[in-house]
Amino acid sequence: MCGIIGYTGSEDVKAVLLDALELLEYRGYDSAGVAVRDSGTGEQRVFKCAGRVSDLRMLCAAEKFASGCGIGHTRWATHGGVSDRNAHPHQVGRVTLVHNGIIENYKELIADYDLQEELQSETDTEVVAALLNRFYEGEPHEAIKKTVAKLRGTFALVVMFADQGDVVYSTRNVSPIVATLCDEGAMLASDLTALCRFTNRYFVVPEYHILELHADHIALCDLDGKMVEPEYLTVDWELNSAGKNGYPFYMEKEIMEQPDAIERTIEGRIRSGLPDFSADGVPDALFTDCERICIIACGTAMHAGLVAQALVKSILHMHIEVEMASEFMYSDPVIDEKTLVIAVSQSGETIDTLEAVKYARRRGAKCLSIINVRGSSIARESDYVLYTNAGPEIAVASTKAYTTQLAVFYLIVARMAYSRGVFSAEETQSFIRELQRTPDVMKKILAKRRDIHVVAKRVLGAKDLFMIGRGLDYSILLEGSLKLKEVSYIHSEAYASGELKHGPIALITQDTPVVASVTQEKLMSKELSNIKEVRSRGADVVVFIKESIAQRLEGEYEVVKLPNMQDEFMVMPASVALQLLAYYVSADKGFDVDKPRNLAKVVTVE
Ligand code: M6R
Repeated sequence: MCGIIGYTGSEDVKAVLLDALELLEYRGYDSAGVAVRDSGTGEQRVFKCAGRVSDLRMLCAAEKFASGCGIGHTRWATHGGVSDRNAHPHQVGRVTLVHNGIIENYKELIADYDLQEELQSETDTEVVAALLNRFYEGEPHEAIKKTVAKLRGTFALVVMFADQGDVVYSTRNVSPIVATLCDEGAMLASDLTALCRFTNRYFVVPEYHILELHADHIALCDLDGKMVEPEYLTVDWELNSAGKNGYPFYMEKEIMEQPDAIERTIEGRIRSGLPDFSADGVPDALFTDCERICIIACGTAMHAGLVAQALVKSILHMHIEVEMASEFMYSDPVIDEKTLVIAVSQSGETIDTLEAVKYARRRGAKCLSIINVRGSSIARESDYVLYTNAGPEIAVASTKAYTTQLAVFYLIVARMAYSRGVFSAEETQSFIRELQRTPDVMKKILAKRRDIHVVAKRVLGAKDLFMIGRGLDYSILLEGSLKLKEVSYIHSEAYASGELKHGPIALITQDTPVVASVTQEKLMSKELSNIKEVRSRGADVVVFIKESIAQRLEGEYEVVKLPNMQDEFMVMPASVALQLLAYYVSADKGFDVDKPRNLAKVVTVE
């Protein structure tokens, strides 16, 4: 987590840093800071505070810096609470520094180098600043080299030395840094979002290298001083200039964008009614040569993987596992050259997923990634990439990224079934036709959003809530439950309905609302019995149900009818309905829906 920016050039440095930090704020938003050097006076000053970038803007509103260089940071706290003091940049002696990552051995470093006296914060970062300052004798490269040799953990470090003019230095291990030289000067950032305003050309700073930004050039070398030519890439990622488009929150806007996003995801990947990945450069051999599939992801992206798992089992009858990326490497996973690894990530920067991809490829697996952000780290580390084309997702709670990930999985499953001879051409075309109905079906559920708003008011006061369903409904509810807890702070648990009476039903009372999802016709009778069981224990039950079977429950329960699709596709309308439920509960409670407490959009620490 944490967003980093570094800049040197002819523009108003304060404005460049603050604007970039606003774009990077989704990486962390508990505090923010900048250090700016005025090239005229040589004066270097730090402004930082707990709170948002808007607070930082106010803090330094009156300050004027002609030009020069600067570094900035938006923080997601790991070591040390949220406070002005713990905000970055940290300044020790001649060193001013920002950091993304975690220094695991910071306590040993304090002891080994007797640094305690020099520290004012509780952060691991300030220890790095102190160590760097200790090693610094006027030679930045020497000091950086000595420092990184002592660090254990992950780090992207950006440094200004008080006596080195308008030069910004950087080095990294695991945590990402991209950089560019453009007409306005040289800049670096945690991700491309902050650079796209200036250029679509960038390069990834290699691990354990030292980057120097000068206003008119960039120098990159390894730790032994050998010069390295940056490998420039281009990106066609566009920033969403339309802002919230009249919606009060990005989350609502992004929920509403889903029909268009799904169209963008599937169009261009269907030819003669069949799924086609030739434009993505993904060969059929990837699908025909594998014996098993392993999906790796975190959070919402992992929930998309769980839906895919159910489809693969029922359609392809293949061995498939869904692994939480954070557990993957520590669980002795069965991965070999016959395993197709599918990594799923909106940001393409989630550190656990990134490390899992590297691990799987070392074991000989081929890796296909489903990614939203073009040119991101996971995309670069993968053998093949299918971009979801959802467009920028700004709200922390993932919505359109999830449903576009699902759309890509439907295409993959169909292509696999076709290329492995499980589906005939006609069967594949019929499956794809149903997928192509998704945008229209989503529009129907979005048109009924007021009904979901009414239902949301029933759970507004709940402290705890259960979501129950079977089969694919259970998979969808895991995501619906995550959505509700992250934005509304209601403790919500998704449970496979049949498991409820093996323990958790003890928690059901009249104060525990239950949301049930009933979209799978073959499981309906059993599901209805489970709903009755919680109802007879006093629970207020809201049922999201496929329209064609809704008459079984109408009059008896509060029912939200979901437009009909074939059972395998009902996750699409159901997930939109559950997103709306979470959104309305949060908005009605008056929360900052787009920036829930303790969270960040991109999780770059393990
Ligand atoms: O960028 P990623 O898709 O890799 O992020 C993974 C999770 O952090 C993410 O899906 C998270 O669970 C969502 N923001 C929740 O809405």
